[in-house]
Amino acid sequence: MTEDEIAAVQESWALVLPISDAAMQIFYDRLFALDPDIGTLFAGKDMGVQRQQLARALDAVVSQLHQPQALSLPLQRLGARHATYGVREDGFSTVGAALLFTLEQGLADSWTGSVAQSWRSAWDMIRTQVLIGFREQQAA
Ligand code: HEM
Repeated sequence: MTEDEIAAVQESWALVLPISDAAMQIFYDRLFALDPDIGTLFAGKDMGVQRQQLARALDAVVSQLHQPQALSLPLQRLGARHATYGVREDGFSTVGAALLFTLEQGLADSWTGSVAQSWRSAWDMIRTQVLIGFREQQAA
């Protein structure tokens, strides 16, 4: 990611953070609407806990975008855990779409073309690392 992209992601995330629980609610609603089968993976889960875990994970990633090498291992481990949750690889595109939708909704007028492009770039990095761990675990 470029310096400008990192700045755009960090500055826009700072606007979402105070409303992160509502934002994560939008995320899961969108995710389950896009693919009801993904919803069944969360059956019986405490969604309040899930919203908090996802917001914390995103916050940790966003705050470390300047040190991508420090993010690789934790993201690969996260991906490896997902291989044990019944997740299918095509679910990652759905999650990406739900995340971008959430940010667009949450940021409203602050969702500019360059902010959108910067988040796509962050998502590419996240997805790439998570999928490395996911595939390794699946092959194991
Ligand atoms: C790169 C994108 C993703 C991120 C950042 C992410 C983040 C997280 C986090 C932080 C947790 C909490 C548990 C843990 O840390 O292992 C979690 C749990 C979970 N995620 Fe994801 N996730 C991603 C992609 C996906 C996808 C694609 C699916 C399904 C299609 C999914 C389904 C689940 C489920 C079902 C759980 C609950 C697991 C359990 O408690 O049994 N996630 N996710």
